[in-house]
Amino acid sequence: MSESHSKKSLCVVCDNDIRYEQAQAFAGDYLLPLLNAKTPDYELQLIFGNERIELYDSSLNTSIYVDFVHGTLAHRQQFGGGRGQAIAKAVGLKQGKNPIVLDITAGLARDAYILATLGCPLTLVEKSPILSKLIEDGIARGLEDEHSTEILAEHFELHNQDAIDFMKKLEKGQRPDTIYFDPMYPERKKSALVKKEMQILQHLLGKDENSGELLETALNYAKDRVVVKRPLHAPFLLDKKPATSINSKKTRFDIYLTHRLEG
Ligand SMILES: C[S@@+](CC[C@H](N)C(=O)[O-])C[C@H]1O[C@@H](n2cnc3c(N)ncnc32)[C@H](O)[C@@H]1O
Repeated sequence: MSESHSKKSLCVVCDNDIRYEQAQAFAGDYLLPLLNAKTPDYELQLIFGNERIELYDSSLNTSIYVDFVHGTLAHRQQFGGGRGQAIAKAVGLKQGKNPIVLDITAGLARDAYILATLGCPLTLVEKSPILSKLIEDGIARGLEDEHSTEILAEHFELHNQDAIDFMKKLEKGQRPDTIYFDPMYPERKKSALVKKEMQILQHLLGKDENSGELLETALNYAKDRVVVKRPLHAPFLLDKKPATSINSKKTRFDIYLTHRLEG
């Protein structure tokens, strides 16, 4: 497995018949040990449970998983401020315009789902096979729910791939209006729970080392703009000044316009 956490240990856990074959296939594909119960011996454990797939961190005693139906995302779908919220304005959502968005750092697919609920067709690219598996499982459960089924079925397409390779293979006619980019940022200060989630992601992925190349590539492939999500007071990525920025309470969206570059 190519995750950069190679010093950390990772295993697959499955204690039920329903998902055993799926767990076995994943463990086989990535040459990971398959256990039938959680263990303190491994730091990260991809658990194929009865209800969902989750990534458990034994040193933090916390799991992450993708859930479009309950919790924060469902709440945000209902009460999140609609097309007037900062992320919507940043990607170029306007009256009568729903830009086609490529999210090149899907993660737990939260930002992508918010944009999809607002009407943007979304393509998600995530290089980590583990996170892609969590998203895939979240999509499968979300397709069973009346509030998320249409959005996920029609506006959500996931690719487990390196986004630089993905973008470089796009034909001119396949280019998205907006490329959305949320690189890992180590000093994010958030609530205790989110902080733990960030820690799990950092254990899994290590440092994000290709942000600069991702931004440079994205600038060549977005028809209209590239949006980079940053903590409010973080420096610009690559020290590159955006055309404009839109702030929310804790986050800044730096907007790089590309339509002028298109010619
Ligand atoms: C901060 S997280 C994104 C969180 C996401 N915006 C969300 O709402 O859940 C950054 C993600 O980018 C992914 N990533 C980093 N470099 C990548 C690349 N070259 N191609 C695809 N994904 C990449 C990491 O694996 C990580 O999951």
